[in-house]
Amino acid sequence: MENEGVYKVAVIGSGNWGSVAAKIIASNTIKQNIFHDEVRMWVYEETFPSGEKLSETINGNHENCKYLPGINLGSNVIADPDLENTVRDADMLVFVTPHSYAKGICKRLAGKIKPKAKAISLIKGMEVKKEGSCMISKLITDVLGINCCVLMGANIANEIAEEKLSEATIGYTEDKEVANRWAQLFATPYFLVSIVEDSIGVELCGTLKNVVAIAAGLVDGLEMGNNTKAAIIRIGLKEMRAFSKLLFPSVKDNTFFESCGVGDLIASCYGGRNRRVAEAFARSGGKKSFNELEEGVLQGQKLQGVLTAQEVFEVLNDKGWEGQFPFFVTVHKICTMQLSPSSILKCGSVHSSIQLVP
Ligand SMILES: NC(=O)c1ccc[n+]([C@@H]2O[C@H](COP(=O)([O-])OP(=O)(O)OC[C@H]3O[C@@H](n4cnc5c(N)ncnc54)[C@H](O)[C@@H]3O)[C@@H](O)[C@H]2O)c1
Repeated sequence: MENEGVYKVAVIGSGNWGSVAAKIIASNTIKQNIFHDEVRMWVYEETFPSGEKLSETINGNHENCKYLPGINLGSNVIADPDLENTVRDADMLVFVTPHSYAKGICKRLAGKIKPKAKAISLIKGMEVKKEGSCMISKLITDVLGINCCVLMGANIANEIAEEKLSEATIGYTEDKEVANRWAQLFATPYFLVSIVEDSIGVELCGTLKNVVAIAAGLVDGLEMGNNTKAAIIRIGLKEMRAFSKLLFPSVKDNTFFESCGVGDLIASCYGGRNRRVAEAFARSGGKKSFNELEEGVLQGQKLQGVLTAQEVFEVLNDKGWEGQFPFFVTVHKICTMQLSPSSILKCGSVHSSIQLVP
């Protein structure tokens, strides 16, 4: 991405949030001369029983009838099932897929993108490797050799699709000018964007809140009420901060007060899909697995919290930190059915002065 010229944008992913991101971006590229009007969106192709392809229906109706029904994306959003073709001319790459697919997609893109392209990740999650854990933005930078900012926040996609007011946080590490350009691409009167120089902190907030949202859903399913839920959210937030700072000492406290921090945590613990599926899990008495419930409750959308809880547990295990994070450990053990849903009420954190015994 250079200073002069018109920037072409590609969106890699077309699920619920991916489609909303494309809609927001397309409404801005058409209004701002520094961006090319067309927004190319990579679609992981699906074929409906009628034989019609998802990408064809998006291009025909300007609507993603599977992941974002009833919302016009804009006629300048072009769905493309060909990943390489989607990114070929792009200067700005927006990554927005479930985190489990990120590595495979990056590997397919290596050597296929413009060398000066810049990336932003809207993906919540991390990759755990033997050599240590790696945030998705770093994975993108490592595999593709390009700068990668992150955008996270209290962003339940369906609400933003209806243009209800919300906030988001862009995190960057070195290049503020690039972060500003991303803000220009995303900001609208109903989508307020702020920028912080703490890419890792922003990304960790967005990732770890999914684990806390699972716990909040368990509390809802157990019908424990608002005070218990507030206690769970508070303890979760403390472990989010402690874990982030132990793993990456550069993470800033103030980041937790941005939309990506406490904002996203509240939205996810009251409204998100992780909360919803965890509530169903607790209502089943812990008898139906998360996998089974994900299929039935989310219908193709993906749950991130269970996998993230496992990834966090692997890091804790590897570092010998389990004793310091009883909340995260308990959520993982509940998700894997080693503990009952009500165990969440007994995981009074070492960071906490209260013991949550019912
Ligand atoms: N939905 C939200 O409200 C929301 C909000 C903020 C951030 N996010 C984050 O955005 C990211 C993307 O979520 P989403 O809501 O757009 O997706 P989604 O869960 O709605 O949809 C799943 C997507 O994965 C695709 N897919 C299925 N199998 C695939 C494969 N083998 N390879 C590649 N893609 C495959 C599907 O076609 C679909 O586009 C996630 O990291 C999520 O945490 C979501």
